[in-house]
Amino acid sequence: MLAELDKIHKGALAAAAQVIDQAGLEEWRSQYLGKNAVLTQSLKQLGGLSAEERPQAGQKINQVKQALEAAFEERKAALQADKLQQALDTERLDVTLPGRAMPLGRLHPITQTLRRINAIFAEMGFQVYRSRDVETDEYNFLLLNFPPNHPAREMQDSFYVEGGSADNPLLMRTHTSAGQIHAMREFSAESPENPPPVRIVLPGMCYRYEQVSARSEVQFTQVEGLAVGEDITFGDLKGTLTDFARRFFNADVRTRFRASHFPFTEPSAEMDVECFVCGGKGCSVCKHSGWLEILGSGMVHPNVLRNGGYDPERYSGFAFGMGPERLTMLRYRIEDIRYFWRNDLRFLEQF
Ligand code: PHE
Repeated sequence: MLAELDKIHKGALAAAAQVIDQAGLEEWRSQYLGKNAVLTQSLKQLGGLSAEERPQAGQKINQVKQALEAAFEERKAALQADKLQQALDTERLDVTLPGRAMPLGRLHPITQTLRRINAIFAEMGFQVYRSRDVETDEYNFLLLNFPPNHPAREMQDSFYVEGGSADNPLLMRTHTSAGQIHAMREFSAESPENPPPVRIVLPGMCYRYEQVSARSEVQFTQVEGLAVGEDITFGDLKGTLTDFARRFFNADVRTRFRASHFPFTEPSAEMDVECFVCGGKGCSVCKHSGWLEILGSGMVHPNVLRNGGYDPERYSGFAFGMGPERLTMLRYRIEDIRYFWRNDLRFLEQF
């Protein structure tokens, strides 16, 4: 029996060496150490041995059992180490590789420009006022001194929407100037006898029924400005807008005002900045004039002041309107206004 046990021991160790995976090892265990294993059967045979043989055989059985249990643990550890090594060899991981950057969102270039404009005017004491995109003919034109059928309306062909009346149709605002009346009426309603001064900028989307081209879109943003109070002069208009241009472009940008016409301002002026592409010498960007037009402005027309609830005998004011798309195009030399609303990340990610 002792010789037999040695044989079992050797055979089991040889078999363990052949095992190549976890499942095979489990099989090995039930074969050599399980309930029906030869070794377990040998224990049962102990009873049939003589009194001298029995303790020796019992001891031997326990030794072999312990040895096989140890072999099992050893083989198990070896298999696990093999598996790890294999994973390390095949699934290589270069911990020195730089991480993958998380894509970061950002503000649309026009939003960035709008915020810069708002911030510059905020420093000068203007507050942001918001007004509706869908307007009545009355606010968009009539109260701004555009009489019905006035030819100036033709410059702002409009998108009309359902819901208005024949003599006061509804339309998408063609300029933020419509908000001038809303703002003045809101302020003057607080104190009709003694309306408070107004210092606002009014950013928002405008809509015109126009041929889309590299220079004009059917929708675009504007920032309107309005200051109304006592003793406001054209000098205040010039000073405020010149200071704005210096802050927006650079501290020594040259500016000029050119006489112009808008029904709701009198006198009216367009403001130009010196072309910063050629420095005023003349180039294709400034169409060889040396100047770039950046906004329309003027002293608020007495009729408009009256429509807003301010007595033109006592109050005066100035207004201006600028296009953030145009300012952004000039600043970054973008050639086509249509890029702004195309949702092309290759364009947008540059800002
Ligand atoms: N609303 C004018 C436009 O869209 C701009 C403007 C605003 C001019 C305020 C004068 C004063 O062209």
